[in-house]
Amino acid sequence: MPRMSAVVKERAGPGVRLIERDIPSAGPGEVIIRVRAAAICGTDVHIYEWNSWAQNAGIKLPIILGHECAGDVVEVGRGVDNLVVGDRVAVDTHIPCGTCRLCHTGRQHICQNLELFGVHTEGCFAQYARVPAACAWPLPQEVTYEVGALFEPLGTAFRGAQVLEPAGKTVAVFGCGPIGLFALASLRALGAARTIAIDVSPTRLELAAKLEADHLINPAGNDLAAVLIALTDGYGVDAFIEASGNTTALSQAFQALMKGGRAAIIGLPEKNLELDVGSDIVFKEATIFGIHGRLMFATWETMQNMVVSGRLQVESVITHRLPLQDFAAGIELARSSSAGKVILLPWQKKE
Ligand SMILES: NC(=O)c1ccc[n+]([C@@H]2O[C@H](COP(=O)([O-])OP(=O)(O)OC[C@H]3O[C@@H](n4cnc5c(N)ncnc54)[C@H](O)[C@@H]3O)[C@@H](O)[C@H]2O)c1
Ligand SMILES: [Zn+2]
Ligand SMILES: [Zn+2]
Repeated sequence: MPRMSAVVKERAGPGVRLIERDIPSAGPGEVIIRVRAAAICGTDVHIYEWNSWAQNAGIKLPIILGHECAGDVVEVGRGVDNLVVGDRVAVDTHIPCGTCRLCHTGRQHICQNLELFGVHTEGCFAQYARVPAACAWPLPQEVTYEVGALFEPLGTAFRGAQVLEPAGKTVAVFGCGPIGLFALASLRALGAARTIAIDVSPTRLELAAKLEADHLINPAGNDLAAVLIALTDGYGVDAFIEASGNTTALSQAFQALMKGGRAAIIGLPEKNLELDVGSDIVFKEATIFGIHGRLMFATWETMQNMVVSGRLQVESVITHRLPLQDFAAGIELARSSSAGKVILLPWQKKE
C-alpha cells in the first residue's frame, strides 16, 4: 500500500503528530485529491488543543486534521459524474446529507444532518485527502492553489459581506483575524463606501491596513461605540460584521449600529451575550444574519468571479507558507494573533 505524510491527532489531550498513513482510495461518491495547499483555521487549533469544543464536537480519533484546501483530483469513485481526474478543486467543509428538507430546498450548507470535513471525516493536512464529490468545487486556471485553499473561509466572510448589501455604506468589521480580513476585502469588492477595521491586536490592524480599510481602531482604552457614532455623524454604522467571537465586541457593535442597520454575525462567542433587545434591536429595527459557512455553491461562484476579475484580492492575508513538516510552527502562528493565514504545502520539501 503506498504511503503518505499526514498530520494526525491520535488521542485525546493536546498535540498532533506527523505520521505515515496509507494513501486513501475513493469510495462511491468520493474523490481523492493530491493536496497542493492547505490553510490552518481556528478549528484546527481547537482540535490540536483538544479544548471543550473539540471534546464535544463528535470527533472520532485518530483523525487527520485540516479542512481548508485545494488540490488535484487523482481518483474518482463510483457514481461521481461531476469531476474527472486532473480537475483542480477546492473543498467546502460542509458535507450535506442530500436527503433532508434543508438539502432539498437549496440550503445544503445548513443540512439537518450536517457533517464537517476534517472534523467528522479525515481532513487535508496530508499529501492526499478523500473528499465527498458533493463538496469539491472545480477551480479555473486563474486561481492558484493557495488562493483556492482560502476559498472556504473567504466564502464565509464574503457571504457575511453580501447579506449586508454594503454598496455605498459604512461598515464596521469587529475582529481582524483571517475572517475579518477577508470580510474587509469582500466589503471593498462589493462597493462599501467606508470600512472600519477594529481589533485589539496591532499586527492584525496592520494587515487590515494592507487591505485598505478606511479606519483602523484599537478598542483598548476607547469607548468604541462612541467613537463609531462620532465617525458617522451621530447615526452609527450602516452595518457590521462580527468576526471576533468576543461578546464585548458584539454588544458594542449593536450599540454602534444605525437604526435600520444590518448585522452579520460570524464569530462564535464562548459565552452567552447580554443585549438590550429593546434599544439595540427592536427600536432600531435591526436585521440580524447568522452566517454559517457558504451557500453551496452560489457564494463560491460569485466570490470566484470577483477573485478572477481582480476585484477581490486576498493574497496579502497569507503571511506564512510552510512545508507540512512544520505544521507545529504553523499551529503556533495561528494561535498567536500575530499571523494572518498560514498555508501548509504538503509537497514542499523542508529546506
Ligand atoms: N460562522 C462560521 O461559519 C465561522 C467560520 C469560521 C470562523 N468562525 C468564527 O469567526 C471568528 C473569527 O475567526 P478567525 O479565524 O478570524 O479568528 P481569530 O481568532 O484569528 O480572530 C479574531 C480576532 O478578533 C480579535 N479580537 C478579540 N477580542 C476583540 C475585541 N474585543 N474587539 C475587537 N477585536 C477583538 C482578536 O485580536 C483576533 O485578531 C471566530 O470566532 C471563529 O470561531 C465562524
Ligand atoms: Zn476553517
Ligand atoms: Zn441534508
